[in-house]
Amino acid sequence: MLKIYQNIIYIFFQTLLMPISIIGAVYSFQKEKIISKRLKISYTAGQVIQGQWLLHKFKLRRDPDMIKFIKNFPAESHNGFLMMMSAALLANKISGFIPKALVKEDLKKISSYSFLFYRTKKFDQIINQNINNVKQLVILGAGFDLRSIKFNNETVKIFEIDKRNTQDLKIKTLKKASIGIDHIKYISGDLNNNFWADELISNGFQTDKKTLFLFESVSCYLKDDTMTQVLEKINEISPKGSLVAQDFYSTKFLHSDEFSRVKKGNKTVKSFGEQWRFSLDMSQNTEKTIFDYLSTKKLESQELFICGESSTKSKQPFYAISLSKVI
Ligand SMILES: C[S@@+](CC[C@H](N)C(=O)[O-])C[C@H]1O[C@@H](n2cnc3c(N)ncnc32)[C@H](O)[C@@H]1O
Repeated sequence: MLKIYQNIIYIFFQTLLMPISIIGAVYSFQKEKIISKRLKISYTAGQVIQGQWLLHKFKLRRDPDMIKFIKNFPAESHNGFLMMMSAALLANKISGFIPKALVKEDLKKISSYSFLFYRTKKFDQIINQNINNVKQLVILGAGFDLRSIKFNNETVKIFEIDKRNTQDLKIKTLKKASIGIDHIKYISGDLNNNFWADELISNGFQTDKKTLFLFESVSCYLKDDTMTQVLEKINEISPKGSLVAQDFYSTKFLHSDEFSRVKKGNKTVKSFGEQWRFSLDMSQNTEKTIFDYLSTKKLESQELFICGESSTKSKQPFYAISLSKVI
Protein backbone atom coordinates (compact mmCIF):
# COMPACT_ATOMS: atom_id res chain seq x y z
CA MET A 1 0.00 0.00 0.00
CA LEU A 2 2.76 2.42 1.02
CA LYS A 3 4.64 1.74 -2.25
CA ILE A 4 1.51 2.54 -4.30
CA TYR A 5 0.99 5.79 -2.34
CA GLN A 6 4.67 6.75 -2.83
CA ASN A 7 4.52 6.04 -6.56
CA ILE A 8 1.34 8.10 -6.97
CA ILE A 9 2.98 11.05 -5.18
CA TYR A 10 6.06 10.70 -7.38
CA ILE A 11 4.07 10.50 -10.63
CA PHE A 12 2.03 13.56 -9.55
CA PHE A 13 5.17 15.66 -9.00
CA GLN A 14 6.95 14.28 -12.05
CA THR A 15 4.00 15.29 -14.25
CA LEU A 16 3.84 18.73 -12.66
CA LEU A 17 7.59 19.36 -12.71
CA MET A 18 8.46 17.69 -16.02
CA PRO A 19 9.72 20.91 -17.71
CA ILE A 20 11.97 21.71 -14.72
CA SER A 21 13.33 18.14 -14.71
CA ILE A 22 14.09 18.29 -18.41
CA ILE A 23 15.83 21.67 -18.19
CA GLY A 24 17.88 20.42 -15.22
CA ALA A 25 18.89 17.22 -17.03
CA VAL A 26 19.82 18.95 -20.28
CA TYR A 27 21.76 21.66 -18.46
CA SER A 28 23.67 19.22 -16.19
CA PHE A 29 24.58 16.76 -18.93
CA GLN A 30 25.59 19.41 -21.44
CA LYS A 31 27.68 21.22 -18.84
CA GLU A 32 29.39 17.97 -17.90
CA LYS A 33 30.18 17.11 -21.51
CA ILE A 34 31.37 20.54 -22.60
CA ILE A 35 33.55 21.27 -19.56
CA SER A 36 34.99 17.74 -19.30
CA LYS A 37 36.05 17.95 -22.92
CA ARG A 38 37.48 21.44 -22.54
CA LEU A 39 39.48 20.53 -19.42
CA LYS A 40 40.48 17.09 -20.78
CA ILE A 41 39.37 15.31 -17.61
CA SER A 42 37.81 11.86 -17.20
CA TYR A 43 34.16 12.02 -18.22
CA THR A 44 33.38 8.66 -16.62
CA ALA A 45 34.80 9.78 -13.26
CA GLY A 46 32.22 12.60 -13.32
CA GLN A 47 29.44 10.09 -13.93
CA VAL A 48 30.31 8.19 -10.76
CA ILE A 49 29.88 11.23 -8.53
CA GLN A 50 26.41 11.90 -9.93
CA GLY A 51 25.40 8.55 -8.43
CA GLN A 52 27.05 9.47 -5.13
CA TRP A 53 25.15 12.78 -5.12
CA LEU A 54 21.89 10.84 -5.49
CA LEU A 55 22.73 8.35 -2.74
CA HIS A 56 23.47 11.22 -0.36
CA LYS A 57 20.34 13.18 -1.27
CA PHE A 58 18.11 10.14 -0.64
CA LYS A 59 19.91 9.56 2.68
CA LEU A 60 21.25 6.16 1.62
CA ARG A 61 24.92 7.10 1.99
CA ARG A 62 26.21 10.07 3.97
CA ASP A 63 28.69 12.08 1.91
CA PRO A 64 28.40 15.82 2.71
CA ASP A 65 31.89 16.42 1.27
CA MET A 66 30.64 15.20 -2.12
CA ILE A 67 27.88 17.82 -2.09
CA LYS A 68 30.44 20.55 -1.23
CA PHE A 69 32.74 19.17 -3.92
CA ILE A 70 30.07 19.18 -6.64
CA LYS A 71 29.03 22.73 -5.72
CA ASN A 72 32.60 23.82 -6.44
CA PHE A 73 33.28 21.53 -9.39
CA PRO A 74 33.22 23.21 -12.80
CA ALA A 75 32.03 20.15 -14.75
CA GLU A 76 28.88 19.33 -12.75
CA SER A 77 25.87 21.34 -11.63
CA HIS A 78 24.42 20.88 -8.15
CA ASN A 79 21.43 23.07 -9.06
CA GLY A 80 20.97 21.20 -12.34
CA PHE A 81 20.81 17.90 -10.41
CA LEU A 82 18.31 19.43 -7.95
CA MET A 83 16.09 20.47 -10.86
CA MET A 84 16.45 17.14 -12.64
CA MET A 85 15.56 15.19 -9.50
CA SER A 86 13.02 17.72 -8.12
CA ALA A 87 9.99 15.41 -8.41
CA ALA A 88 11.69 12.42 -6.81
CA LEU A 89 13.18 14.57 -4.03
CA LEU A 90 9.82 16.18 -3.21
CA ALA A 91 8.11 12.78 -3.27
CA ASN A 92 10.85 11.56 -0.93
CA LYS A 93 10.21 14.43 1.52
CA ILE A 94 6.47 13.89 1.56
CA SER A 95 6.11 10.12 1.37
CA GLY A 96 9.57 8.57 1.74
CA PHE A 97 9.68 7.64 -1.99
CA ILE A 98 13.06 6.28 -3.13
CA PRO A 99 13.91 5.42 -6.77
CA LYS A 100 14.07 1.61 -6.95
CA ALA A 101 17.48 1.48 -8.61
CA LEU A 102 19.14 3.11 -5.60
CA VAL A 103 18.21 0.33 -3.20
CA LYS A 104 18.39 -2.85 -5.26
CA GLU A 105 20.47 -5.38 -3.33
CA ASP A 106 19.39 -8.71 -4.84
CA LEU A 107 22.55 -9.59 -6.80
CA LYS A 108 20.76 -11.60 -9.48
CA LYS A 109 18.29 -8.79 -10.20
CA ILE A 110 20.80 -5.96 -10.36
CA SER A 111 20.54 -4.22 -13.73
CA SER A 112 22.86 -2.26 -15.97
CA TYR A 113 21.63 0.90 -14.19
CA SER A 114 21.18 -0.15 -10.57
CA PHE A 115 24.65 -1.71 -10.40
CA LEU A 116 26.09 1.82 -10.31
CA PHE A 117 24.57 2.41 -6.88
CA TYR A 118 25.15 -1.11 -5.62
CA ARG A 119 28.82 -0.80 -6.60
CA THR A 120 29.39 2.35 -4.53
CA LYS A 121 27.76 0.84 -1.44
CA LYS A 122 29.53 -2.52 -1.78
CA PHE A 123 32.99 -0.95 -2.17
CA ASP A 124 32.23 1.27 0.88
CA GLN A 125 31.45 -1.87 2.84
CA ILE A 126 34.60 -3.68 1.66
CA ILE A 127 36.79 -0.70 2.56
CA ASN A 128 35.18 -0.17 5.97
CA GLN A 129 35.53 -3.86 6.83
CA ASN A 130 39.21 -4.01 5.89
CA ILE A 131 40.74 -0.60 6.48
CA ASN A 132 41.71 -1.38 10.09
CA ASN A 133 43.69 -4.44 8.99
CA VAL A 134 46.03 -2.53 6.66
CA LYS A 135 48.57 0.25 7.01
CA GLN A 136 48.19 1.77 3.56
CA LEU A 137 45.33 2.49 1.16
CA VAL A 138 46.18 2.97 -2.52
CA ILE A 139 43.39 4.12 -4.83
CA LEU A 140 44.24 3.42 -8.46
CA GLY A 141 42.31 5.56 -10.94
CA ALA A 142 40.70 7.43 -8.04
CA GLY A 143 38.79 9.87 -10.24
CA PHE A 144 36.67 12.26 -8.16
CA ASP A 145 35.84 9.71 -5.50
CA LEU A 146 36.21 11.21 -2.00
CA ARG A 147 36.36 8.12 0.20
CA SER A 148 39.97 8.78 1.19
CA ILE A 149 39.01 12.14 2.75
CA LYS A 150 37.46 10.52 5.80
CA PHE A 151 40.39 8.25 6.67
CA ASN A 152 42.27 11.10 8.24
CA ASN A 153 44.18 9.32 10.97
CA GLU A 154 47.75 8.40 11.71
CA THR A 155 47.27 4.67 11.25
CA VAL A 156 46.62 4.48 7.49
CA LYS A 157 48.73 6.17 4.83
CA ILE A 158 46.71 7.13 1.78
CA PHE A 159 47.79 7.41 -1.86
CA GLU A 160 45.71 8.28 -4.90
CA ILE A 161 46.80 7.75 -8.49
CA ASP A 162 45.12 9.13 -11.59
CA LYS A 163 45.94 10.93 -14.80
CA ARG A 164 47.22 14.47 -14.38
CA ASN A 165 44.30 16.61 -15.62
CA THR A 166 41.69 14.69 -13.69
CA GLN A 167 43.75 14.70 -10.52
CA ASP A 168 44.75 18.36 -10.77
CA LEU A 169 41.13 19.44 -11.11
CA LYS A 170 40.14 17.24 -8.18
CA ILE A 171 42.78 18.83 -5.92
CA LYS A 172 41.85 22.35 -7.08
CA THR A 173 38.16 21.70 -6.38
CA LEU A 174 38.85 20.17 -2.97
CA LYS A 175 40.88 23.23 -2.00
CA LYS A 176 38.15 25.56 -3.25
CA ALA A 177 35.60 23.63 -1.19
CA SER A 178 37.91 23.88 1.87
CA ILE A 179 38.05 20.10 2.26
CA GLY A 180 41.22 18.99 4.09
CA ILE A 181 43.53 16.79 2.04
CA ASP A 182 46.89 17.10 3.79
CA HIS A 183 46.78 13.42 4.77
CA ILE A 184 46.58 12.23 1.13
CA LYS A 185 49.51 11.77 -1.27
CA TYR A 186 48.35 12.49 -4.81
CA ILE A 187 50.42 10.89 -7.54
CA SER A 188 49.70 11.70 -11.13
CA GLY A 189 50.47 8.75 -13.34
CA ASP A 190 49.34 6.53 -16.13
CA LEU A 191 48.73 2.89 -15.30
CA ASN A 192 49.77 2.03 -18.84
CA ASN A 193 53.35 2.25 -17.72
CA ASN A 194 54.89 0.94 -14.53
CA PHE A 195 56.28 4.28 -13.34
CA TRP A 196 53.25 4.66 -11.09
CA ALA A 197 54.75 2.06 -8.75
CA ASP A 198 58.14 3.85 -8.61
CA GLU A 199 56.35 7.13 -7.95
CA LEU A 200 54.32 5.49 -5.23
CA ILE A 201 57.47 4.24 -3.49
CA SER A 202 59.30 7.55 -3.87
CA ASN A 203 56.29 9.24 -2.25
CA GLY A 204 56.51 7.15 0.91
CA PHE A 205 54.72 3.89 0.07
CA GLN A 206 56.33 1.10 2.11
CA THR A 207 56.69 -2.25 0.42
CA ASP A 208 56.63 -4.17 3.72
CA LYS A 209 53.31 -2.76 4.93
CA LYS A 210 49.98 -4.50 4.32
CA THR A 211 48.01 -2.46 1.82
CA LEU A 212 44.48 -2.27 0.47
CA PHE A 213 44.44 -1.44 -3.24
CA LEU A 214 41.15 -0.03 -4.45
CA PHE A 215 40.69 -0.47 -8.18
CA GLU A 216 37.06 0.49 -8.76
CA SER A 217 35.80 0.70 -12.33
CA VAL A 218 39.23 1.34 -13.78
CA SER A 219 40.28 -2.05 -15.14
CA CYS A 220 37.65 -1.82 -17.90
CA TYR A 221 39.62 1.14 -19.37
CA LEU A 222 42.89 -0.80 -19.51
CA LYS A 223 44.27 -3.15 -22.12
CA ASP A 224 44.57 -6.80 -21.08
CA ASP A 225 48.37 -6.51 -20.85
CA THR A 226 48.13 -3.42 -18.70
CA MET A 227 45.74 -5.19 -16.32
CA THR A 228 48.23 -8.03 -16.00
CA GLN A 229 51.10 -5.60 -15.40
CA VAL A 230 49.18 -3.65 -12.76
CA LEU A 231 48.19 -6.77 -10.83
CA GLU A 232 51.72 -8.19 -11.11
CA LYS A 233 53.14 -4.90 -9.88
CA ILE A 234 50.79 -4.91 -6.90
CA ASN A 235 52.12 -8.37 -6.07
CA GLU A 236 55.70 -7.26 -6.46
CA ILE A 237 55.48 -4.17 -4.24
CA SER A 238 53.27 -5.39 -1.42
CA PRO A 239 53.55 -8.11 1.22
CA LYS A 240 51.43 -11.25 1.36
CA GLY A 241 48.00 -10.61 2.82
CA SER A 242 47.62 -7.26 1.08
CA LEU A 243 44.19 -6.83 -0.48
CA VAL A 244 42.85 -5.86 -3.88
CA ALA A 245 39.26 -4.63 -4.19
CA GLN A 246 38.30 -4.46 -7.83
CA ASP A 247 35.48 -5.07 -10.27
CA PHE A 248 35.08 -6.99 -13.50
CA TYR A 249 32.75 -6.43 -16.45
CA SER A 250 31.62 -9.16 -18.81
CA THR A 251 32.69 -9.20 -22.44
CA LYS A 252 29.04 -9.34 -23.41
CA PHE A 253 28.33 -6.20 -21.39
CA LEU A 254 31.15 -4.10 -22.79
CA HIS A 255 31.58 -5.48 -26.28
CA SER A 256 28.28 -6.87 -27.60
CA ASP A 257 25.00 -5.31 -28.65
CA GLU A 258 22.96 -6.81 -25.81
CA PHE A 259 23.01 -3.67 -23.66
CA SER A 260 21.81 -0.67 -25.65
CA ARG A 261 22.68 1.73 -22.80
CA VAL A 262 26.29 0.51 -22.89
CA LYS A 263 26.46 0.59 -26.68
CA LYS A 264 25.32 4.22 -26.71
CA GLY A 265 27.60 5.04 -23.78
CA ASN A 266 30.58 3.52 -25.58
CA LYS A 267 30.37 6.13 -28.34
CA THR A 268 30.14 8.97 -25.82
CA VAL A 269 32.99 7.62 -23.71
CA LYS A 270 35.20 7.24 -26.80
CA SER A 271 34.59 10.86 -27.75
CA PHE A 272 36.25 11.77 -24.42
CA GLY A 273 39.32 9.67 -25.18
CA GLU A 274 38.28 6.82 -22.87
CA GLN A 275 37.52 3.34 -24.11
CA TRP A 276 36.08 0.16 -22.62
CA ARG A 277 38.62 -2.59 -23.04
CA PHE A 278 39.35 -5.26 -20.44
CA SER A 279 36.54 -7.71 -19.79
CA LEU A 280 36.01 -11.33 -18.77
CA ASP A 281 33.87 -13.94 -20.45
CA MET A 282 31.06 -14.53 -17.94
CA SER A 283 29.01 -16.86 -20.12
CA GLN A 284 29.98 -19.94 -18.10
CA ASN A 285 30.79 -20.42 -14.43
CA THR A 286 31.70 -16.83 -13.66
CA GLU A 287 32.97 -17.68 -10.21
CA LYS A 288 35.53 -20.13 -11.59
CA THR A 289 36.49 -17.72 -14.39
CA ILE A 290 37.29 -15.01 -11.85
CA PHE A 291 39.03 -17.35 -9.38
CA ASP A 292 41.20 -18.68 -12.22
CA TYR A 293 41.99 -15.22 -13.52
CA LEU A 294 43.00 -14.05 -10.05
CA SER A 295 45.12 -17.09 -9.37
CA THR A 296 47.18 -16.48 -12.52
CA LYS A 297 48.02 -13.10 -10.91
CA LYS A 298 48.91 -14.73 -7.56
CA LEU A 299 45.75 -13.40 -5.96
CA GLU A 300 43.36 -15.50 -3.91
CA SER A 301 39.69 -14.64 -3.89
CA GLN A 302 38.28 -13.64 -0.50
CA GLU A 303 34.86 -12.34 -1.49
CA LEU A 304 32.98 -12.23 -4.76
CA PHE A 305 29.67 -10.58 -5.64
CA ILE A 306 28.34 -11.61 -9.04
CA CYS A 307 25.57 -9.43 -10.45
CA GLY A 308 22.80 -9.58 -13.01
CA GLU A 309 22.23 -13.27 -13.61
CA SER A 310 18.46 -12.87 -13.92
CA SER A 311 18.21 -9.25 -15.09
CA THR A 312 19.95 -9.68 -18.44
CA LYS A 313 18.48 -10.93 -21.72
CA SER A 314 21.03 -13.73 -21.92
CA LYS A 315 20.53 -14.65 -18.23
CA GLN A 316 24.25 -14.36 -17.72
CA PRO A 317 25.96 -12.14 -15.15
CA PHE A 318 27.51 -8.95 -16.44
CA TYR A 319 29.39 -7.52 -13.48
CA ALA A 320 31.28 -8.69 -10.41
CA ILE A 321 32.98 -7.10 -7.42
CA SER A 322 35.93 -8.96 -6.00
CA LEU A 323 38.12 -8.79 -2.93
CA SER A 324 41.30 -10.82 -3.22
CA LYS A 325 44.46 -11.35 -1.24
CA VAL A 326 48.09 -11.27 -2.34
CA ILE A 327 49.56 -14.76 -1.85
C1 LIG B 1 34.99 5.35 -14.13
S1 LIG B 1 36.24 6.33 -13.46
C2 LIG B 1 36.29 5.64 -11.84
C3 LIG B 1 36.85 6.60 -10.85
C4 LIG B 1 36.86 6.08 -9.42
N1 LIG B 1 37.62 4.87 -9.28
C5 LIG B 1 35.47 5.90 -8.90
O1 LIG B 1 35.00 4.77 -8.82
O2 LIG B 1 34.84 6.92 -8.62
C6 LIG B 1 37.73 5.72 -14.21
C7 LIG B 1 38.97 6.41 -13.67
O3 LIG B 1 40.12 5.69 -14.12
C8 LIG B 1 41.10 6.61 -14.52
N2 LIG B 1 41.99 5.95 -15.50
C9 LIG B 1 41.61 5.33 -16.64
N3 LIG B 1 42.70 4.88 -17.30
C10 LIG B 1 43.77 5.21 -16.53
C11 LIG B 1 45.17 5.03 -16.67
N4 LIG B 1 45.68 4.41 -17.74
N5 LIG B 1 45.98 5.52 -15.71
C12 LIG B 1 45.47 6.15 -14.62
N6 LIG B 1 44.15 6.35 -14.43
C13 LIG B 1 43.31 5.89 -15.37
C14 LIG B 1 40.30 7.75 -15.15
O4 LIG B 1 41.06 8.93 -15.25
C15 LIG B 1 39.12 7.84 -14.18
O5 LIG B 1 39.38 8.70 -13.13
